[in-house]
This record gives sequence, C-alpha cells and structure tokens, in this order.
Amino acid sequence: MIAGKKTKTAYFCSQCGAEHLRWQGQCKECAAWNSLVEERLPTKGKSRRAASQVEHVKLSEISDHPIQGYFSGIAELDRVLGGKLLPGMTVLLGGDPGIGKSTLLLQAAEAYSARNLGVLYVTGEESLSQIKMRAARLNVGGKNISVVNATDIEDIIAVIQSSSPAVVLIDSIQTVSSGQFDSPPGTVAQVREAAQQLIRVAKEQNVALIMVGHVTKEGMVAGPKVLEHMVDTVVYFEGDSSHLYRLLRATKNRFGSVDEIGLFEMGPRGLTEVSNPSSFFLSNDASVSRVGTVVTAVCEGNRPLMVEVQALVASANYGSPQRVAGGIDHRKLALLLAILEKRCGYPMATHDVFVSVASGLRINEPAMDLPIMVAIVSSLLNKPVDHRVVVIGEVGLSGEVRGVTLSDRRVSEAAKLGFEQAIIPRANKSQISAGGMRVTEVNEIQQAIDVILG
Ligand code: TYD
Ligand code: MG
Repeated sequence: MIAGKKTKTAYFCSQCGAEHLRWQGQCKECAAWNSLVEERLPTKGKSRRAASQVEHVKLSEISDHPIQGYFSGIAELDRVLGGKLLPGMTVLLGGDPGIGKSTLLLQAAEAYSARNLGVLYVTGEESLSQIKMRAARLNVGGKNISVVNATDIEDIIAVIQSSSPAVVLIDSIQTVSSGQFDSPPGTVAQVREAAQQLIRVAKEQNVALIMVGHVTKEGMVAGPKVLEHMVDTVVYFEGDSSHLYRLLRATKNRFGSVDEIGLFEMGPRGLTEVSNPSSFFLSNDASVSRVGTVVTAVCEGNRPLMVEVQALVASANYGSPQRVAGGIDHRKLALLLAILEKRCGYPMATHDVFVSVASGLRINEPAMDLPIMVAIVSSLLNKPVDHRVVVIGEVGLSGEVRGVTLSDRRVSEAAKLGFEQAIIPRANKSQISAGGMRVTEVNEIQQAIDVILG
C-alpha cells in the first residue's frame, strides 16, 4: 500500500494490534517478528457532544434487577461462557483455522433457536448453500435461525437493527470490513473498526454477540488478540487436528470465572459433549503396567483430568543427545533432566530422551514435573510403573517435591476412577481426604522414585 501525500499511515502489529510510527522488525509490545503492516489511519473526525448531553447516573440508583440470560443447553458451552449468554454480552471465539469454530457456532445457533431465541448467523466465509449442507450434516433444523451472507459492516448492522435477534453470530470478524477504510478486509484497522461497530450495536440493541476470530500465525490478517481488550469474554477453541477432542477455554470473562473448560469430541455429525472428561485422555488399555508410562492428574481450570505421560530413554549414539518433548515445553524437559542428572546421578547426558503427553494435549502445569521424571527414570531403568498409581507433584531445582494446587480434587478424582495409590507432595498431606486410596507423601524426587520403582 502506497501512502499518498496527505493520508496518514501507521504500522500495526497483526498479532497484537500495537501501533508504531515507523516500521521495525519486531513489535515493541508482543515481540513478534515481522508482524508490522502499514495501514492508513481513518480520516473521519469524531464529533464531540456537548458535555451537558452526556447522561450520568449514581451507581446506587442504577436498577439491579437480574438480567435474564440465554442458556444454550450445551452444558460444556454454557459453563465456559460463565453460565449463560447475557443480552449485550460480546464474546470472541478464537481458534486455529479448521479447528471447528463454525461447527460450534452452528450447533450453538441451533441450541439457542430450539429455546425460541431468534438467532442471526452472519457468514462471510461460506455461501448459503454451503451453510445448508453443513446444517444438514449437523442435523440443524434452524427454525429460528436467519442466515445472512454479508461482509460489509453497514449491511450487517442494518440487518441486526431490522431483525432484532437475541443472538448474533459473526463468522468471521476477519471477513467483515467497512467502506470507510481503504485497507483490505482482515487488516488490523478493518478488524478493529468492524468489531467496535458490532460491539456498539450489540450494547445498544441488547443482543448477545459472538464473533469468530481465526488465529493467524503471520501475514496481513489480524489475529483475535487485537480484539481481546474490546470484548467481555474471550474463549479459545483448542485441540490437535490429528485428535478428535476439542477444548473450549475462557481466557477472559467479565461476567464469570475463567477457570472453566469445555470438552468436546469432533465426529462425523459435529461436536458432541464429553460426558466423562476426567478419564477421557486415558488409553483403553490403561489396566496394563508399562515401562515409561505414568498417569497423573492435571487441573485444567477447576477440572481434574487424568492424563498419561510417556517417556522413552535410549542411549545416544553420537553428538549431543536428542530431547524431544510433545505436549510440554522443551525447556521444562531440559530442566527436569538436569535435575535428574545433578541431584539423583542418572546419566541423562548420554541418553536421548523423548517425552510426550498422550492424546496430543498441551499442558503447562507444575504438577506434571514429578510424573514426567518418574516416567523418564522408569524407561531408563526399564522398570514398569504400576498402572494403579497416580503421581502428582512439582519438583524444585534442588530436587525437592513441592505442593500443588487442588491436590484433594485430583486425588479424589483418581480414587473415583479406581486408582489405588497416590504419590503426592508432603506439603499437600493435610489437604487430602483419601477415600479408599493409599496415599504416599514424598519430599524428594529420589524418594518418589524409590517408592514407585524400588
Ligand atoms: P470448521 O467448523 O469449518 O472449522 P473452522 O470454522 O474453525 O475453520 O470445521 C472444520 C473441520 O471439522 C473440518 O476439517 C471437518 C471437520 N468436521 C467434522 O469432522 N465433522 C463435522 O460434522 C463437521 C461439520 C466438520
Ligand atoms: Mg469456519
């Protein structure tokens, strides 16, 4: 884009939306490389209203009768949205392309429609016949769903005003653009402007608004991060394209907790709720003790999930040994290996180490330290870990085992699923009310290894 003499331009980061006066290689805000894009600044001047026209009300005088919200009846979705969708609430649904955002949106539309709420589904990505095909596949009848194929913000606002739906769904915000800007759709300026206008209309008309935002890795298209500060609730749809589960996670919620996740499974007929999330990630033959496989309980939000950690340790033949981490941070793996080498004397420097969290989950939780280390030593020593044992604990740099949050919830979930022994940090001892579970407290990494593999 070449700027004329009089048009003002600035450089926007397509990852976080930060504005820069000059081009530079790295964004000053989010440190992303090569993400700055030159865009024209809007030319329209803002008209200022006289101060006397602006209303102000005493906080104590604002009526506080409870607002009626909208349940979808999809429990996994409602929970993540903070219970229910409220009139005027704005939600950003982010996620990688192809993860299932449009599928979730259409299923949510059907759920609201089935509760006699008017839904307006605005798509700039698919034609009406494509939507119809998808709806047929998902068994969506849609008696209260109106579908619009539009990308112009003025058109979309006109439809919202004339049809006054309860819920508006936008798929996706990156396709919506305003004629007032010359920048192409999807650029930071366009995406921001479109979102701002939609949010204003949603608040004025008291409609609940859900906007889809694709996560973009690089390039011209602005990612959902650009909008996070503008909306009430931000939820991300995550998952691994080679696995069927999908996790819905709230990262910001003005009206509820962000400690909630929703778990879905993608099937030929769309998304279904996972009813037994805590055992969902365990393999079917979890009743066999294996070398290098340890079960742990991680907490995603407030929910305990049982997951398997697997490690494979093999002699390194040449050069520097390999470290491959799937589902956990590779720096974390390097750190845990250094602790094993230095504090326990295991010869990790001469071995290749591969660690993965089964089912392709990505987990960043301190309570995984101990199970990962036990899995590694189990593989190194070629000794199996009893499949009836669940291991939790954070490990400090001097090899001490530290307490974890929500330890009681993790242990009781494991007991419910039939695990017989829990290895927990000593610091958590007083918090555990073990129902039928043998609980062993450990203080040091070596002590845990002796108990489990001794
Ligand atoms: P989609 O909702 O179009 O993703 P997004 O809007 O996030 O880009 O979902 C795309 C993927 O989901 C696609 O690879 C096919 C798969 N899918 C199913 O497995 N089952 C289904 O019933 C549907 C509709 C899609
Ligand atoms: Mg889509």
